[in-house]
Amino acid sequence: AVSETAEEEECSVYIVGGFVRDLLLSVPTQDLDFVVEGSGGQFAQALMRRIPDGKLTQHIKFGTAQIIFPDGSHLDIASTRWEHYSFPGALPQVEESCLRDDLFRRDFTINSMAICLNTERFGELVDYYGGKQDLQQRKIRFLHNISFIDDPTRMLRAIRFAERYHFEFAKETLDALHTAIETGVLSKLSVERFTEEVLLIFKEVNYLAMGQILVESGLFKAWFGKELAWNFNLDDAENSRDWSINMRWLVSVSQMKSYEIGTLLERVILNKSLRDETIAYVQLRQSLMERLTISEMDRLLNKAPKEVVIVLARDERFKVRIMECLEAGQRINMSLDGKALLQMGLKQGPEIGEILDRVRMAWLEGRISTLEEEQGMARQ
Ligand code: CTP
Repeated sequence: AVSETAEEEECSVYIVGGFVRDLLLSVPTQDLDFVVEGSGGQFAQALMRRIPDGKLTQHIKFGTAQIIFPDGSHLDIASTRWEHYSFPGALPQVEESCLRDDLFRRDFTINSMAICLNTERFGELVDYYGGKQDLQQRKIRFLHNISFIDDPTRMLRAIRFAERYHFEFAKETLDALHTAIETGVLSKLSVERFTEEVLLIFKEVNYLAMGQILVESGLFKAWFGKELAWNFNLDDAENSRDWSINMRWLVSVSQMKSYEIGTLLERVILNKSLRDETIAYVQLRQSLMERLTISEMDRLLNKAPKEVVIVLARDERFKVRIMECLEAGQRINMSLDGKALLQMGLKQGPEIGEILDRVRMAWLEGRISTLEEEQGMARQ
C-alpha cells in the first residue's frame, strides 16, 4: 500500500530510524517511521484510503502525521524537513528540506539510515553517515558534536542503545557525553522529558546495566543535584526480567533513605500508580521499623500494594517478619463473613466489621484454629 501510494502521489517514501537499525541487526521492532520527500500530510491522507482501519492524526505545526491501528501499533509519517531548536531542550521548529538533512538532524549514525519504499527503488539503503559500518563495528556515534546540546534526552538514549545492543561509544561521542554532563546541559531538559526517558530505560531488559552507567557517569548526580543510593544490582538481572516497571523502580530506590526518595520525587513526574507506590513503600518501610504486633503488621501488609510488600520482603531487616506474617495469613481458614453474621441475627453496622477483624486477628495469633472455635468466638 505504501509503494502504491508513493507512486500515486509522485513522492519518494522512506522508512527511517529505529526500524532500519533493527532490521540490519535482525532484531524485532514495533513502530514504523516514514519520511516522505514532499508533503507527509498529503501522503498520509492518500495512504489512509488504502488502510481504512487506521486512525489518522495530523500535527501540522510539526509537519508530521500518525496513523494508529486497532491493535495499538502506530506508523509515524514526517515530511523531509529541517528542525531548529531555538534553545536546548525546546520543541523543534519545522521547515521543508531534503532527506539528507532530515537524516543529519537525527541522534546517532545507527539511527540515521533510510530504506526507500518506492517500487523502482524498493529496499535501497540510504546511508549517508556511515550507519551500517557503525552497526558492524558496534559503535554509538553522534552525527555532530552539538547533538547533546540540541537535545539532552540523547544522553540517556545513547546509554540506552549502547547497553541494549552491547555497543561501545565512539571516543568523541563519549567525550561529548561527559562534557555535556559537566557543563550542565541537562538543566535545559524539562522534568517531563527527563522522566519519560528514564522510564524508557526501566522498560529495557538490560535496565540494570543502564542504571549503573547513569550513576557512574554522573548523569543522575547532575540531574538530582546529589548522589543518591540507587540500587542497580546486576545479581538481579535474571529475576528482574519478569518484574513490572513499578517493581523495578521500587527495587532501584530501596537503598535510599526516606528523605532521599523525597528529593528524587521532586525531580521526576511519575504517573499516579508509580508515585503512589513509591510513597506507600516509604510509609510501610517506616512503619516496619517499629515494633508491631502480628495483627498490626497483617493490617498494614494487606493495605499496601502487593509490589511494595514484595520489595520490602527482600530487605534483610524485614524479611523474616514479613514472611512469618504472610504465612500466618495463609493459615487462616476463616469461614465467617458479613453475610453469616447477619444470618446469626446481628444488625448491619460497624460492629460486623469489628467482629470480623477480631476473628481474623484470633486466627492470626493462633488463639483459634478450628471452625468451631471461630463460631464460638463470633457468638461471644
Ligand atoms: N530521534 C532523534 N533524536 C531523539 C529521538 C529520536 O534523532 N531525541 C530519531 C532517531 O533517528 C530515531 C527516530 O527518531 O531512530 C525514532 O525515534 P524513537 O522512536 O524514539 O526511537 P527508535 O530509534 O525507534 O528506538 P526504540 O527502539 O527505542 O523505539
